[in-house]
Amino acid sequence: MTSLLQVLGFAGSLRRGSYNAALLRAAGELLPEGMTLEIADLSSIPLYNEDVRDQGYPEAVQALRDHIVGADALLIATPEYNGSISGVLKNALDWASRAPGLPLKEKPVAIMGASTGNMGSVRAQMHLRHLCSYMNMFPLNKPEVLVAQAQDKFDVDGRLIDEVTRGFLSDLLIALADWTRRVKKAE
Ligand SMILES: Cc1cc2nc3c(=O)[nH]c(=O)nc-3n(C[C@H](O)[C@H](O)[C@H](O)COP(=O)(O)O)c2cc1C
Repeated sequence: MTSLLQVLGFAGSLRRGSYNAALLRAAGELLPEGMTLEIADLSSIPLYNEDVRDQGYPEAVQALRDHIVGADALLIATPEYNGSISGVLKNALDWASRAPGLPLKEKPVAIMGASTGNMGSVRAQMHLRHLCSYMNMFPLNKPEVLVAQAQDKFDVDGRLIDEVTRGFLSDLLIALADWTRRVKKAE
């Protein structure tokens, strides 16, 4: 029997109609057997401040860090802002990257992203991969899920209606399950 994998997902956009948040919700519909997905809300994470950290992590930050520690893997949906990841996402990762415990260290992570441009967040994803390597995370390489022209891929209720993208997303989740089990086995 294969073990249950608990995945924590978060999107780097706080926008109510966020395509990246919608992409995460679509992932929740396409989970392979044995995988669960909890979605973390980054809206109450304050801006990083080392003086604040010196006094102890704020409650919302500590909760995020605890959820990351408890998760077998992460699933990050990144928007592309000026060719990189959003401040919201970078800020959350900065909080999560700090001692004690280094919650992100050696954490398997799958990356995906949606943008309204033609490049489907590829530049943001490349920058995020760079950050993952710096933080010693274990990012899954393939498949890539790049949702270009996102406004055409979701319906008015934010449901992912593009079947090709749903297929890529499903493949990503299967690959993340396999990758996470391999990493855990090697521990
Ligand atoms: C500050 C800002 C910068 C952006 N820069 C890019 C960009 O570099 N490339 C791109 O494809 N889209 C860019 N966009 C458009 C986003 O892809 C679009 O707003 C998208 O809907 C954001 O993701 P979300 O739907 O999850 O909020 C930018 C949007 C904002 C607000």
